[in-house]
Amino acid sequence: MSERLEDIAAAMVADGKGILAADESSGTIKKRFDVIGVESTADSRRDYRELLFRSTDAMKNCISGVILYDETIRQKAADGTPLVDLIKAAGAIPGIKVDAGAKAIPGYPGDTVTEGLDGLRERLAEYYKIGARFAKWRAVIDIDTAKNVPSRYTIDANTQALARYAALCQEAGIVPIVEPEVLMDGAHDIDTCYDVTRATLVKLYDALYDARVKLEGTVLKPNMVIAGKKSGQKNTPEEIAEKTLRLFRETVPVAVPGIAFLSGGQSDEEATANLNAMNAVGPHPWKLTFSYGRALQAAPQKAWSGKAENVAAAQAAFAHRARMNGLAASGKWQQ
Ligand code: 13P
Repeated sequence: MSERLEDIAAAMVADGKGILAADESSGTIKKRFDVIGVESTADSRRDYRELLFRSTDAMKNCISGVILYDETIRQKAADGTPLVDLIKAAGAIPGIKVDAGAKAIPGYPGDTVTEGLDGLRERLAEYYKIGARFAKWRAVIDIDTAKNVPSRYTIDANTQALARYAALCQEAGIVPIVEPEVLMDGAHDIDTCYDVTRATLVKLYDALYDARVKLEGTVLKPNMVIAGKKSGQKNTPEEIAEKTLRLFRETVPVAVPGIAFLSGGQSDEEATANLNAMNAVGPHPWKLTFSYGRALQAAPQKAWSGKAENVAAAQAAFAHRARMNGLAASGKWQQ
């Protein structure tokens, strides 16, 4: 496989394929395992992720790359094969989450900035040796209009950090997934999400230009334009698609090869339907696909529930969601 950044980025958003976000931190995966009554240990985390990466048909046909957590990229399958090798054998690209999480900003209650730049050059060099060819950094922008959240300051701090991360990745031969996530947890309406996401993307591409990041060798991982969960509003896939596409046409340069959405707390089927609605009205100047965590994994986690005898059922559940999202990435999904 080519090592050129633009070729790796193009492969990450290949037709009908998307990215599996399996990079939950140890804290987050524990929360997911608590729901299915599984103790989170290095072995249970390995067993679970191994079953996903061994879902051969789904991985080969629908998954272009897998985002891993530091522990997982170093782990071996039960038979001693490195998990990274399982991913490569399925024709997918290993990737790595490199940020150190969102931290509170002094003086700005409710705002956060994602940390992790210290020592990043050295960590990227090591991840490259282990096999990572792309990375992920997630900035978190919450919305709480009553509290003036997000501030302009948090958008600046987060987009500057994303740009510095992206430049370091490219120096190391690694494609940066640039993820500015405007959360859908609040009570805001869809137009507020539009405005905040717009302000964020404008600043983001400004910062990426300043940092001399080559956009052809990046992938954007954004939220969709959608009302907050506590708003009581329910948007149709067509409305979400129309507003999201309008915003991207305004803000995302055509040099960016692809946009791979996060699911952000949407249900499995909503995440599929919304992506499909966008691709049903193409063509667009960029590929539009998925980089889902929860919307790909909730079903297999439930089916598995930590039991070896459920592995085949969990793999079938994962394969189904991967197939549905693969179809949505081509605008060919039907309810
Ligand atoms: P969700 O699809 O569960 O939002 O996770 C994707 C992700 O990687 C967030 O950083």
